Amino acid sequence: MAKVYTDNQDELTITNVIKNGIKQPGLPKWAVLRIALARSLRIETHPDEGLDRRESAVGGGEYSLEQLTGDGKPGDEDMTPPFCALLSQFHDLDLFSDHELFVKLLQRHVRRGLREIRSGWMETHDFHDYLLHELFGDLGASNTNDTDLNLRDKLIRALSEIGISADVTDAVDGPRLTRYLVKLRDANDYNPLLRGLDKLSFVLGLGEMGVFASPTKEPMIVALDIPRASLLWRSVPASKLIEWVSNAPEIFKLPIYLGQDVTGEAFGFDLAAAPHLLVGGTTGSGKSICLHAIIISLISKFTSNGLKLILIDPKRVEMAPYVNLPHVTDGVLTDVVDTIGVLNRLLDEMQQRETALANVGARDIDDPRAYRLSIPRIVVIVEELADLLMQSGGVEDPLIRLAQKARAAGIHLVLATQRPDANTFSGLLRSNVPSRIALTVQKGSESKIIIDESGAEKLLGRGDMLIKLLGKNTIRVHGVLLNSDDIANSVQLAQRKIK
Ligand SMILES: Nc1ncnc2c1ncn2[C@@H]1O[C@H](COP(=O)(O)OP(=O)(O)O)[C@@H](O)[C@H]1O
Ligand SMILES: [Mg+2]
Repeated sequence: MAKVYTDNQDELTITNVIKNGIKQPGLPKWAVLRIALARSLRIETHPDEGLDRRESAVGGGEYSLEQLTGDGKPGDEDMTPPFCALLSQFHDLDLFSDHELFVKLLQRHVRRGLREIRSGWMETHDFHDYLLHELFGDLGASNTNDTDLNLRDKLIRALSEIGISADVTDAVDGPRLTRYLVKLRDANDYNPLLRGLDKLSFVLGLGEMGVFASPTKEPMIVALDIPRASLLWRSVPASKLIEWVSNAPEIFKLPIYLGQDVTGEAFGFDLAAAPHLLVGGTTGSGKSICLHAIIISLISKFTSNGLKLILIDPKRVEMAPYVNLPHVTDGVLTDVVDTIGVLNRLLDEMQQRETALANVGARDIDDPRAYRLSIPRIVVIVEELADLLMQSGGVEDPLIRLAQKARAAGIHLVLATQRPDANTFSGLLRSNVPSRIALTVQKGSESKIIIDESGAEKLLGRGDMLIKLLGKNTIRVHGVLLNSDDIANSVQLAQRKIK
């Protein structure tokens, strides 16, 4: 009989969901497997072959198709044909004629879904909210037909609903928001306006999306950033990244393009000055695409003589396109033991660099005396910090030591996580990774963990971010949208440049 096999970790996740998530101790385990399947089908890529688990493996669980799809049960209870149709469509295969492959793919999806739940859902969160967000999160806002003119009127009316009389003096369209310049008639309205932003967003029917306010240099004028209907959003194309990077300010050692600010101005920064970065946000918020923007900014500027990349991707999906780049010295690291090995090697490298720098009398890699050593910078990218930390306690220590000291040696960390909590981002790591990007999160408390202020819970998802770089004010940016062709093209160009 065909079965679907899980491993120990999967089993722990299943029990955890039943006990702490759905809180129905009698719920059969296969019900969680079905949820996991639905979760996996929300991801566009195919699940990894590494998720094939055999009967002979020790530990874990096994589920018959009868349990999982109702195979062989009478009438409506047998969900096998619709499941098979779903997977056939997803993989563009005829799985009705290959039952074995169907079961195999079913297992891969179920296990990937469990893994997503494991790294994406926190026990402290309501599981039903989590699912709602994960399964239906980006179905979009409903207010689609607003023209700018009736939005202006609507805004003035909404302001008066919350007791503020004001005029709109100007409006600028950015990629997703319109910035309205609003002239208050009474200065005493300013604080009530700031306090009333949630109410304003409610009156405007924006759902969870927030209205952000900022003072301007004009007397009595405040800027209100209001999201347009999602059909009216403009995405920021890859060409903007290429253009910005090739003209980036000279003083930037590692120029990175992220996207456009609220009014559509290009936003880039110097990763070397960051000098380490945390990127946090819920699933679907745009973390991976943000990491791609960072990597592509780097490889479109540097050959492997000037830059090395260490890519750590425990989920194995995102970093695969870069595996053959000469910048990527260790392949894509997916295994925690390998990762620890490479991190420890980086610590050695850091010490050797310190010695070499001291020998030429240089303080750090930016010191002119260090130039003749021509030491390449190293950027370490971690696609899911929580996943990695959960697999082994041995990862945190080398990461902290690198964060504390590696900057002078030209080594920089970019850590992404979908679980911005105190466990993942512990005190020491936190104080040594001073630059932060918050994509959309579920709660204000998570926003505070990432950028020390709330707000990211009111973002629009899909690459909408609040960026707080070392020593700078928080800025809101809409991320550049990179698809797999953009990534493949940039990789090809980078490879050609080397030859
Ligand atoms: N900058 C962006 N502009 C438009 N859509 C985006 C952007 N970033 C992400 N998205 C949308 O959100 C989806 C999830 O992005 P992804 O980077 O995979 O999120 P995460 O890694 O946080 O789960 C993407 O498939 C895309 O549809
Ligand atoms: Mg991702």
